[in-house]
Amino acid sequence: MAAVVGAGTMGLGVAECFAAAGIRIVLTDATPELTREAKAELVRRAKGHAEAGLLSDEAAERVVAVETADDVAVAVDGAELVFEAVPEDIGLKEEILGSCSEAAPEDAVIVSNTSSLPINDLSGFVGYPGRFCGMHWFNPPEWTPGVEVIPAAATEEEIVGRLVAFLRSIGKRPAVVGDGPGFVANRIQNALFLEAVRCVEEGLASPQEVDEVVRSCFGFRLPFFGPFQVADMAGLDVYENVLDVLRDGLGERFEAPESLRDLVERGRTGTKSGAGFLEYTDEEQERLLLERDRRYAALNELLEELPPVDAGSGGSS
Ligand SMILES: NC(=O)c1ccc[n+]([C@@H]2O[C@H](COP(=O)([O-])OP(=O)(O)OC[C@H]3O[C@@H](n4cnc5c(N)ncnc54)[C@H](O)[C@@H]3O)[C@@H](O)[C@H]2O)c1
Repeated sequence: MAAVVGAGTMGLGVAECFAAAGIRIVLTDATPELTREAKAELVRRAKGHAEAGLLSDEAAERVVAVETADDVAVAVDGAELVFEAVPEDIGLKEEILGSCSEAAPEDAVIVSNTSSLPINDLSGFVGYPGRFCGMHWFNPPEWTPGVEVIPAAATEEEIVGRLVAFLRSIGKRPAVVGDGPGFVANRIQNALFLEAVRCVEEGLASPQEVDEVVRSCFGFRLPFFGPFQVADMAGLDVYENVLDVLRDGLGERFEAPESLRDLVERGRTGTKSGAGFLEYTDEEQERLLLERDRRYAALNELLEELPPVDAGSGGSS
């Protein structure tokens, strides 16, 4: 059984995902009234997903069967996994994680969905930090495959392995990352966002044009390849040259990292040389490029069928 503590945007989505996968769920929120409202919202959403063909009728029934509890102590009683998703307030997290830890079975694993609070700090709020871990989902949790698993210094390795295996078993794509500010996803996403805002502020493009460029140019690749594979396919020497121009025009934040310069210096310029950040045999390189083309063609077809949603036409205020 898993308890979901905090039934808002994320807690509800994760509860739906767990329940759809066949896990018995107990849900709780700040008050019994809010918990009842959250359960009603969960049922409404699951039925909507079933009607839209996104969830099987059987899975929707399992979501409708999610149980509720009037407080944290009752919710976590007997839980093997406690998923904390209360608002991002360190004082509240301290209170709630403390209550979860006091009332949950001694061998329960407690995870926090915090987006930004240091996992090491949060691990100090539970009685058994060895069985505490960050588990950062993305909105909407029902459909976004990636989950960051962030061990605290005290988290037992076996627990990390168990959480990764569990997430894979319900169809997610976990990545174990370190406890740095914003972990990995929010750090990279916010670096992108800051540059997007700067492009608009400098008058280079409107928000709509920036969105189009991100979505249709380099963002088009991202469902299939991360920045390292993309860079390897483009050529690290090309990246180094571009970064030098960006540094000269925009400042030190675009200075090429030492590790990149070092790879180029050693002739590891990417797929074309058989190695960049990653290594490629001739056969792997050929397969990679073919698979890339196949995926891009398929994505283009999907985009014709499901074009991007137009989102507002107003200018920035
Ligand atoms: N919204 C996102 O896109 C997103 C993505 C990833 C991670 N997160 C993180 O997930 C956590 C939850 O975010 P959210 O967006 O779901 O917030 P939210 O405000 O939608 O939901 C939080 C829920 O916690 C409940 N709550 C408040 N006090 C409580 C208490 N004492 N006991 C039990 N429940 C209580 C609230 O009533 C609310 O229903 C935060 O740490 C946030 O940073 C959010």
